[in-house]
Amino acid sequence: MKVLLISLVYVILLSFGYGALSAAPWVPTRKKERDRLIAELPLVEGKVMVELGCGDANVLFAAADRMPGLRAIGYDVAILPIVAAWLRKLFGGRKYRNISIRIRDLFSQDLSQADIIFVFLLPKIYDRLGKKFGLELKDDCTVAVEAWNIPGIEPMRTVKEPGMLPLYFYEGRQFRTVPVSPTPKG
Ligand SMILES: C[S@@+](CC[C@H](N)C(=O)[O-])C[C@H]1O[C@@H](n2cnc3c(N)ncnc32)[C@H](O)[C@@H]1O
Repeated sequence: MKVLLISLVYVILLSFGYGALSAAPWVPTRKKERDRLIAELPLVEGKVMVELGCGDANVLFAAADRMPGLRAIGYDVAILPIVAAWLRKLFGGRKYRNISIRIRDLFSQDLSQADIIFVFLLPKIYDRLGKKFGLELKDDCTVAVEAWNIPGIEPMRTVKEPGMLPLYFYEGRQFRTVPVSPTPKG
């Protein structure tokens, strides 16, 4: 029993460590940023919102509170916050029936069906993420980014208020950069 418990703690800690090294440690979005984000997003029944690195999915639950018909999908690798999200969904009743929280690596998920993407991740992964967005996102997919803007792409909209982390809004089409081929010689 003791060995089982120690192994479980070990696996939980490892999952936190993997997440922290991969894209960002678990730091939940605060209520003020969350409320503002939800107010700004085009939440529409039947549309698909994907949160990459969802933690305890507090943002997705807030989105479902506002629009229960939204299809909300969250991916994370940290076991503890994911289990908290599963329990919240389990006891949350019908309004959370369209939320799906999965233990998955965000970099290996197909994003082609997303209408809204939300990320609160470290800028070190923006380059890799931006390339993935460019290949997979629909033109009109709304991409909301908390805290740090994506260098080299002008946001469609920015929300900045005192005491609040900034929110940046982009569109899928903005990530489709055409590679500049070298000028032919001769
Ligand atoms: C800064 S937290 C944001 C949590 C949540 N999005 C929020 O705003 O409350 C970043 C989350 O990304 C997760 N994460 C890091 N690398 C990941 C990866 N490769 N795949 C999936 N999730 C990852 C972490 O476990 C952590 O929960």
